Amino acid sequence: MHFWIFFAAAVLPLVLAHGAAYDDEPAWHGLPGNLYTEQWATCPDASWPPTSIGQRLQPQEPDAELEDILAAIDPNRVEHIISKLASFGTRHTLSTQNSSTEGIGAARDWIYHEMQNFASSSDGNMEVYFNSYIQGIDGERITFPVKITNVVAQINGTDDPNRVYVVSGHYDSRRIDVMDYTNEAPGADDDASGVAVAMEMARVCAKKRPKATMIFAAVSAEEQGLYGSAHLAKTLKRAGYNVEGHWNNDIVGTGKNEPFSPINDYTIRLFGASVFYPNSSTAEITDTAASTGGWNDSPAQNLGRYISEIAAGAWESVGMQVALIYRPDRFLRGGDHLSFLEQGFPGVRFTEAVENFAHQHQNTREQDGIQYGDLIEFVDFDYTARVARTNLASMWSAANAPRMPVNVSISQAIGFPATDKDTPPEIVGNDSQFCWSTGNDPLAVGYELVWRPTGNLQWTHSLDVGNVRSVTVNLPKDDLQFGVRAVGEDGKKSPAVLPLPAESC
Ligand SMILES: *[C@@H]1O[C@H](CO)[C@@H](O)[C@H](O)[C@H]1NC(C)=O
Ligand SMILES: *[C@@H]1O[C@H](CO)[C@@H](O)[C@H](O)[C@H]1NC(C)=O
Ligand SMILES: *[C@@H]1O[C@H](CO)[C@@H](O)[C@H](O)[C@H]1NC(C)=O
Ligand SMILES: *[C@@H]1O[C@H](CO)[C@@H](O)[C@H](O)[C@H]1NC(C)=O
Ligand SMILES: *[C@@H]1O[C@H](CO)[C@@H](O)[C@H](O)[C@H]1NC(C)=O
Ligand SMILES: [Zn+2]
Repeated sequence: MHFWIFFAAAVLPLVLAHGAAYDDEPAWHGLPGNLYTEQWATCPDASWPPTSIGQRLQPQEPDAELEDILAAIDPNRVEHIISKLASFGTRHTLSTQNSSTEGIGAARDWIYHEMQNFASSSDGNMEVYFNSYIQGIDGERITFPVKITNVVAQINGTDDPNRVYVVSGHYDSRRIDVMDYTNEAPGADDDASGVAVAMEMARVCAKKRPKATMIFAAVSAEEQGLYGSAHLAKTLKRAGYNVEGHWNNDIVGTGKNEPFSPINDYTIRLFGASVFYPNSSTAEITDTAASTGGWNDSPAQNLGRYISEIAAGAWESVGMQVALIYRPDRFLRGGDHLSFLEQGFPGVRFTEAVENFAHQHQNTREQDGIQYGDLIEFVDFDYTARVARTNLASMWSAANAPRMPVNVSISQAIGFPATDKDTPPEIVGNDSQFCWSTGNDPLAVGYELVWRPTGNLQWTHSLDVGNVRSVTVNLPKDDLQFGVRAVGEDGKKSPAVLPLPAESC
């Protein structure tokens, strides 16, 4: 009884406040579970301070070209890829590489030939290659020297080829005993589903000419120690590429796992490491964040916000909502995006909303009436197709937007109390001043300041500041988290960048 009295007293005013806040509720609140209502718009204005500056964040919408490629993602193709990959017996990293019907070598060659096929329609713009090396015995999960091979399809950007976006899934598989490389390990969900995402994206993009470079990769040896992705990330680093994003898809095969059905069907989790994850940020960012806040504004987390925003703006063609999780990966677990983070590249991980551990790493068997095993029958190809669209919408948008602004700063010279009697009155106050550099990106025709209360997952507001290199706004830096992002001619935006304190602008 007491509970209900408390409930009525404490929650009712909030409910009313919500009602008022949702008068301008955007159309993208249409999916089951209304994740966005929770993420974005949970009374953002109830969080102090209220402001009339800028506008409530409106996710950018897909253009016609993006709508076309999103519509081209085909669940039947996804099914074809996952069924084929599940048919090689095992795809364990140490399994045979000299059979054309079983083992990881057969899977590798099949993926390569499929990708070649996509590339044949690309007018020579998509290049497919092996990225491989010999991994020696490591005293852990590699017991004899083995060739580790990533299969990569690359479309160079027309305007900014050195800027790269990577999507990947891992094509190796495992059983309960991670060293058992001969017995059946279909790996349909973990991670033929992620490979299907990368391959299906490659197929629909083959004829396209993005402004920045897009890479679609099937990587190997994830289960043996992230070896394939580490090799790919290092290869890209050594080649001098500026990798502005890595979309890792690992276990993206179904939304059918209980509980929370049917919300799961339209939800994908996205993990992004904070600034404290080793090597994911510069030491400067980590130190600054420790003292001024912004630990949830790492490049990876800002990429996550970007991905979730693009999915929201394109929800009618994507059909998926992105649940942002401020964590490098599932608790004490890992994946290929960590290899990219280690090289200083923003990497994030997609995983289905609720995992079923009976269908992951398990030896195929029936026990106590339960079917164990990572079997094709537990994969929902429509779900994986929606995951592919979620990846594609954001990766395509980023690859056609300007690069992220660089040297983004927040001034320490304006908007503070006076320090002595000679402090000029015009620099005393509540203003916040930001400045940044374009990195000479001809694609950038404007900039946006975005912000949110410190506890919100997603940006709540944006302000178009035009084609300038600095802006001063009457918003309190004590209370809000800010980001600056570049805007292209057609309105396509880059992910946002955390401003760091600088002596002045
Ligand atoms: C095929 O590979 C296996 C190890 O994976 C090896 O034992 C066998 O000798 C190889 N066969 C041929 C014909 O090379
Ligand atoms: C893409 O760019 C790389 C690096 O400049 C170059 O080696 C490669 O040949 C290019 N690929 C295509 C298909 O143009
Ligand atoms: C991580 O950063 C440290 C310090 O800068 C560096 O010594 C190390 O090589 C980095 N690790 C990788 C994998 O890049
Ligand atoms: C700073 O903001 C507070 C609260 O809005 C206001 O009372 C004060 O006058 C402002 N100070 C300056 C110098 O603008
Ligand atoms: C960013 O700042 C660094 C250090 O001050 C400087 O070396 C670099 O040229 C700047 N980059 C741009 C694009 O302005
Ligand atoms: Zn996996």
